[in-house]
Amino acid sequence: MSAIIVYFSREGNNYVNGSIVSLKTGNTETAAKFISEITGAEMFRLDPVRPYSADYNECTKEAQQELRAKARPAVKNLPDISGYDVVYLGYPNWWGTCPMCVFTFIESQYWHGKTVKPFCTHEGSGMGRSESDIKKACEGANVMKGLAIHGADAAKSKPLIENWIH
Ligand SMILES: Cc1cc2nc3c(=O)[nH]c(=O)nc-3n(C[C@H](O)[C@H](O)[C@H](O)COP(=O)(O)O)c2cc1C
Repeated sequence: MSAIIVYFSREGNNYVNGSIVSLKTGNTETAAKFISEITGAEMFRLDPVRPYSADYNECTKEAQQELRAKARPAVKNLPDISGYDVVYLGYPNWWGTCPMCVFTFIESQYWHGKTVKPFCTHEGSGMGRSESDIKKACEGANVMKGLAIHGADAAKSKPLIENWIH
């Protein structure tokens, strides 16, 4: 079974346990690296053409506007998942679901017969409604039970991820 890890992650200012810190590597990227170490799957990072603000409050406003508008922001580079059986799909929980640029990716692919394993980092609301939104969007895919990782604990999440994978 060949697998690819497709993820979006935003470094810069973020809330970690109630205070704003500047992350060099985003929490979701940290989790994606662990999945790659464990499975050997290659990583593919989604980068929006127009980057989200590094400022936390600005970014929450941008994200809320995109959510309300059901925006599909352009992504610089889209992978082709046709040669893979399994897609590990990673993202931060933004306003209870995936960032809209993740749906840009999802809607650019053909999902029939694929297995999708969603993983998300968050600051308290777990997967939110992202799993059901992914199920709706990845038509024809088998969407497995996702893994919610508390963002502040991403750096020590390898055992949790190992358990989820095996
Ligand atoms: C725009 C925005 C919206 C967010 N909304 C939520 C939310 O609804 N629930 C939650 O638990 N965390 C929320 N967070 C916190 C992030 O999910 C959390 O910090 C995550 O680990 C960030 O991952 P990243 O570093 O890979 O981008 C939000 C963060 C941002 C920037």
